[in-house]
Amino acid sequence: DSIKILAPATVANVSCGYDVLGFCLDQVGDEMIIRKVEKKGIFISKIEGFDLPYDTALNVAGVSALEMYNHIDVDFGFEIEIYKKIKPGSGIGSSAASAVGSVFGMNELLGRPFNKTQLTTFAIKGEAIASKCEHADNLAPAIFGGFTLVKSIAPVQVLEIPTPPNLYATVVHPQIEIKTSEARAILPPEIPMDKAITQWANVGSLVHALHTNDYQLIKDSLVDVVVEPYRSKLIPHFESVKKAVVDSGALGCGISGSGPSIFSLSEGPENAKNAAEAIRSIFSKTDIAFDIYVGKI
Ligand code: HSE
Repeated sequence: DSIKILAPATVANVSCGYDVLGFCLDQVGDEMIIRKVEKKGIFISKIEGFDLPYDTALNVAGVSALEMYNHIDVDFGFEIEIYKKIKPGSGIGSSAASAVGSVFGMNELLGRPFNKTQLTTFAIKGEAIASKCEHADNLAPAIFGGFTLVKSIAPVQVLEIPTPPNLYATVVHPQIEIKTSEARAILPPEIPMDKAITQWANVGSLVHALHTNDYQLIKDSLVDVVVEPYRSKLIPHFESVKKAVVDSGALGCGISGSGPSIFSLSEGPENAKNAAEAIRSIFSKTDIAFDIYVGKI
């Protein structure tokens, strides 16, 4: 009566789609074991990798699990073990992976009473204690896989978007921490109309490009005129990395979620590896430690 799962890392926003677009990096993630136990309730029994709270009500995985537990009527409980690989504050959906892993695992052990949309609704409560607001652009791709667009969060409505067959991601994680709550606080509350028009044109065309396997249109649409100008200042060497990545043949480059990770998309594995090399050549000349991931989406 236990299940071991990989709770995947995700890239949110995808340049133009702040709080709505995201995709899944299905080879990177946290391992979690969810186990049925006799005692009623939700218990975090083990955390390895990073120093996170054992108190269920303060732990992201615990809060989403409690939310789901309050929607079922059972005479047993669940114990959660977390082997955290995704560093909190890295910008690749660390809190979302934890929030999703617990409810996904519990749902499997219960015989799948809830659909993916309902799982997202529960997981939002866990994600919210980390980022201090409710958003689902990391949760949705972790639950549904591939690319997703969060049409709304109240009620949750997630659209699954097809992934072109030859699309690869390169993600660098420079080891500095940026808190999502702080990266949200620096954004202005209003957007000038001209910027809004550019941004929603890009979101629409990126979604169209993903549906039609139009790599050139993906390239033309990976532009963020709303959020990146503010957040890029928090990430050392962002502009030079972006230029080097695009010059190396990638389709585009932007901030992964709220940073500091930087993602790029490429047509084919060679371009994705070239993007990784371009990033490596910049960060290796600095004193910032970094990890690079390259993988098919
Ligand atoms: N959409 C979110 C943000 C993702 O950019 O703040 C990070 O959790």
